[in-house]
Amino acid sequence: MAKRTIVVMPGDGIGKLVTPEAIRVLEAAGFEADWIEADIGWDFWIKEGNPLPQKTIDLIAEHKVALFGAITSKPKDKAAEELSPDMRGKGFVYFSPIVGLRQQFNLDISIRPCPTFTGNPLNFIRRGADGQAEEPKVDAVIFRQNTEGLYGGIEWTNPPAQVYDALKTHPKFKNFADVPGEDLAISTRVFTREACRRICAGAFEYADKHGYTNVTVCEKPNVLRETSGLMIAEARKVAENYPDIDLWETNIDAQMMWLTKNPEDYGVIVAGNMFGDIISDGFAGLVGGLGFAASANLGDDVGVFEPTHGSAPKYVELDPPIVNPIAMIMSGVMMLDWLGETETADRIRTAVSKVVAEGRVRTYDMLKVRGGPNSIAQGAASTTEMTDAIIAAL
Ligand code: NAI
Ligand code: MG
Repeated sequence: MAKRTIVVMPGDGIGKLVTPEAIRVLEAAGFEADWIEADIGWDFWIKEGNPLPQKTIDLIAEHKVALFGAITSKPKDKAAEELSPDMRGKGFVYFSPIVGLRQQFNLDISIRPCPTFTGNPLNFIRRGADGQAEEPKVDAVIFRQNTEGLYGGIEWTNPPAQVYDALKTHPKFKNFADVPGEDLAISTRVFTREACRRICAGAFEYADKHGYTNVTVCEKPNVLRETSGLMIAEARKVAENYPDIDLWETNIDAQMMWLTKNPEDYGVIVAGNMFGDIISDGFAGLVGGLGFAASANLGDDVGVFEPTHGSAPKYVELDPPIVNPIAMIMSGVMMLDWLGETETADRIRTAVSKVVAEGRVRTYDMLKVRGGPNSIAQGAASTTEMTDAIIAAL
């Protein structure tokens, strides 16, 4: 097969540490590619007033597949303060480059698998009726709508007059009609039928392909009648094409409670942007936390693969680095699956499982050890030692 070209965006902070580790594992497993590094993140905001340079967008448009580490984001005022002096006051406004990428390439399908790795000391444990501890195996895969909803970015403080007037036409707005504009912050939750259909179809297709017997659509249609209602309606329509897969409907609040009681009951879960974000962090916490949580952002022909953690700046300066590379490595594995390199992907999955199960090499987050300069002295493996162990297990 022709050699692939993969766009690599390490980004900021620990993104720069874990991205090369994932590439090391992919190469050791025999995946050959040309890796083209592309700029993204805080340094480019400071220097150029744009954390997502056009050159990076062009590279992704050309090559279609990218690995992304993490970026640093800061609130509006702080971002403006840190701009280089010659860039200040010129109207540059900070936006999150990963949210920007998702919208730019319509990467509307986010997949976040949360499987238990046997032997991970961070696995969810509960006490059964007989008082014995039990460790149910979790295998949830969250399908998060990735481009609209509450993260669509349509919000105002002190909304313009036309918006204010439009809101006044809604009977429920009368409770707020006397609030002065400057005391009013408004976010919108825009759902479109097509995006709801696509995320539900993605979830059912995945369930069908991987042998799941149910799909849970998790929203809040009793309160958010229009937006959540649209998602549920589309889920029901899609479900008609899959008579062997049950559709379960849950509300986000109850779902968060149930996942800490019976997480093993859930397989594929589909939700809007914000609820999907919340559920995926909830499940990630039951299977090892941010050091294990991988994700894919998929459009029709572009895929961007990233760990769900951020740039964890406080760990960047440590030498040797201590953060867990598994979330990034597993994001690389999702990339292989998407490229059809399933055999190589399976080999890496098996190697990671083996290292976690053996338990000889564990990063600080897998131990009851504080992350910091003393983690290694307290028995934690470094980032590179974890990668080396996975490569050895291949
Ligand atoms: P974070 O995910 O960077 O870190 C939170 C904590 O999780 C860390 O302090 C650390 O204890 C732990 N952690 C994260 N990754 C780990 C790993 N690989 N191994 C072991 N432990 C790990 O989130 P935080 O601190 O809220 O944000 C830091 C920066 O990252 C902010 O600027 C934020 O905006 C940005 N961020 C970026 C994301 C992205 O690039 N997609 C996602 C989330 C946050
Ligand atoms: Mg999140």
